[in-house]
Amino acid sequence: MSTARGQFSSRTGFVLAAAGSAVGLGNVWGFPTQVVSNGGGAFVIVYVVLAFGLAYPALMAELIIGRFAGANVVTALHKLQADGAGRKFAYVIGIASIIVASLILSFYAIVAGWLLAFLAAAVLDLFAASAPWLVDDSILRNLIFTGLFYFLTVVIVAFGVEAGIERSSKILMPLFLVLLIAMTAHVLTLPGASDGLAIYLVPDFSRLTDPGLIISALGQAFFSLSLGVGAMLIYGSYLSRDENLPSVGALVTLFDSSIAILAGLLIVPAIAVAQHKGLSVFAADGSMIAGPDIAFVVFPPLFESMGAVGLLVGLAFFALMSITALTSSISMLEVPVSLLIEKTSVSRPAAAIFAGFMVFLVSAAIIGQFDPLFDFVITLTTQYSVPLISLFFCIFVTWLWSRNSALQEIQQGFPDAESSLFWKIWPWYAKFLCPLLIVAVFIQSVFH
Ligand code: PFF
Repeated sequence: MSTARGQFSSRTGFVLAAAGSAVGLGNVWGFPTQVVSNGGGAFVIVYVVLAFGLAYPALMAELIIGRFAGANVVTALHKLQADGAGRKFAYVIGIASIIVASLILSFYAIVAGWLLAFLAAAVLDLFAASAPWLVDDSILRNLIFTGLFYFLTVVIVAFGVEAGIERSSKILMPLFLVLLIAMTAHVLTLPGASDGLAIYLVPDFSRLTDPGLIISALGQAFFSLSLGVGAMLIYGSYLSRDENLPSVGALVTLFDSSIAILAGLLIVPAIAVAQHKGLSVFAADGSMIAGPDIAFVVFPPLFESMGAVGLLVGLAFFALMSITALTSSISMLEVPVSLLIEKTSVSRPAAAIFAGFMVFLVSAAIIGQFDPLFDFVITLTTQYSVPLISLFFCIFVTWLWSRNSALQEIQQGFPDAESSLFWKIWPWYAKFLCPLLIVAVFIQSVFH
């Protein structure tokens, strides 16, 4: 059964795929824009502390459940909980995580569609051709490019764990890294970049204890590590029992945080360069342009102002963003697909096409009713559902499952686990501190 499910072929394969899921639009523009609006370097410090202090333990909960169960989210939670009420609870949380994974994919794919359209425009630019409809917002353009993004996601997932997810991550992640490093190195040489660097790196220490900043940093850390939707649980379920879970989890966390910090070195200075050139980086209400508009409103004129080099820089930027969105979206689609394959008799390609098409319909509804729906779905999933489901994953592992079973799972691939620092801290941490802090953040975000 477990080999028929598929497995990552190596530690590198797993780490690249899991890092591919974790590194995404959340790192490349979520993190940098949060830094800008939340006290610069102070946010970076709080983020790193929370990523390792809270998101990493929650990631471990998902990886442990996943590898122990070797199954989709619903079956995995069932395996932890054998009795009546617990089973129903497991069912509700499992289904909820699948719905949230699909909803995140539904808005992520829309943004990725915009990126693909701008990438196509950048390719045309290289040949001195242009097609204004690619960069002008329209329902038709959005449907076409969101559909194209689903197509790419479905194709990769249809190929399976090793031939699809792992192989694509092994190609796309190094490409992404090269583009990111090259672009950062280039942008840092431009006039004005040092102003951005100062905003980014010099912490406003007075903001370190600001509750608003801490909440934003925590939400960002959970989203960035793809927690609370079962994506890491399912990737963990494809991980070999020879691997040391705490150390692969730490590697993924380290990779994800490093990329976020590196992306900040690109995006924040690039905004400062745009400002230096006299381009507008402020919205009509006087606030700094944030979120998707940075990529679609601030950067295109910046690239244009760079002349011939700008053509390549623009191309590299939209390629980089599209790639990182793709390695994340495949992990989101894998959540419903693994359930369909294991609970019904459909083949993987059929499950991928079906799930991809269903979520595409949700995206199409959001595209059609953009104003009320887009922000609503983002807030509902990222601010509320993700922390809440993460909390339940932690509760499942530490309260509803035996401590000994968790230890036995970790000991596979890590025989000395019992005497390790990880085992001295994690069980208590995940049992008491994680749920408590997540609840605190949740209450804050609900009543904020
Ligand atoms: N971690 C991704 C990012 O930072 O953009 C977002 C994400 C990917 C969330 C996969 C959830 C998920 F299942």
